[in-house]
Amino acid sequence: MIVMNEVKQEVRHFYNQIGWQLVDEDLYQNARYEDLRPVSQEYLHRCHLRVSRYLKPDGRYFLDAGSGPIQYPDYLLYSRGYRYRVCADISITALREARKRIGNHGLFVVSDIANLPFKAGIFEGEVSLHTIHHLPRKEHLRAYKELHRVLAPDCTAAVVNSWSESRMMNLCDPLIRATNRLRGMVKRLIGTPAIITEPAYRTASDETNTKKEQGKKPPKGTFTARHDVAWVKDEVGAHMPVEIYVWRSVSVRFTRALIHPSFGGRYWLRLLFWLEDRFPHYFGENGQYPIIFVTKNKEAPIN
Ligand SMILES: C[S@@+](CC[C@H](N)C(=O)[O-])C[C@H]1O[C@@H](n2cnc3c(N)ncnc32)[C@H](O)[C@@H]1O
Repeated sequence: MIVMNEVKQEVRHFYNQIGWQLVDEDLYQNARYEDLRPVSQEYLHRCHLRVSRYLKPDGRYFLDAGSGPIQYPDYLLYSRGYRYRVCADISITALREARKRIGNHGLFVVSDIANLPFKAGIFEGEVSLHTIHHLPRKEHLRAYKELHRVLAPDCTAAVVNSWSESRMMNLCDPLIRATNRLRGMVKRLIGTPAIITEPAYRTASDETNTKKEQGKKPPKGTFTARHDVAWVKDEVGAHMPVEIYVWRSVSVRFTRALIHPSFGGRYWLRLLFWLEDRFPHYFGENGQYPIIFVTKNKEAPIN
């Protein structure tokens, strides 16, 4: 049985009722938080592939913690050398959809990432993508510890989340705002559709905001809470080996505002990807989204 506080109930309700509802063929409501325009597709695809760079390519059990419906085909590649992909998610709708995608390759467990119902040391590969930030802030460390506990010795887990703040995106903010204002003006003048630059999630700094917002209009997204680089290095790093690499340094808001097919958007993103690969730690720590690789040492006790 999952013991759920108010935040987890809200998150589960959101994904069951809204996030994992299909709004188009193979397109979930949740995909509105991603930039899926053709101009960004190659960059996104290459960023997805970065996740598996340091994971064991094959084994018996692969954990996808907060799997959702395995919404992008690239995600299937992570577990392709494994016998089973164990999809763990708090949302039953997510798991039903995931089962449609991977059938017998999958094992599906409704569970809470901060209390994983698995034996220690069982998984030879793990991913947790965009999920830990849905937990109340005080449970983030516990989720990392759970991922580490169930990881097999000498194996690695990849965790992708957004930072609470990104130095790079802060620097770009005035340019993004100016571009959006200009687009708005052009739209008013000639009546072309505006580019949507809504935020990826409702941003609540912590769970108390959930309480404050009760009784108001239904939220656009659901609860999230994020940490910064120092927290990962100090708090998580105190319990397990962690390494911060870049997943993707620019936000959806950035690409939607500044990357345009008519202005060489694809080529700018190729250049960015190349730079990110040359300086993965710099872009990982200063960009928007890191991959946090968690490793379990060979000699680590299994408990
Ligand atoms: C933003 S979606 C990401 C899904 C998938 N990993 C992806 O990248 O497309 C977050 C997922 O985490 C799940 N989730 C949220 N809180 C969770 C928790 N405490 N334990 C397990 N899953 C959770 C949600 O139900 C949802 O499917």
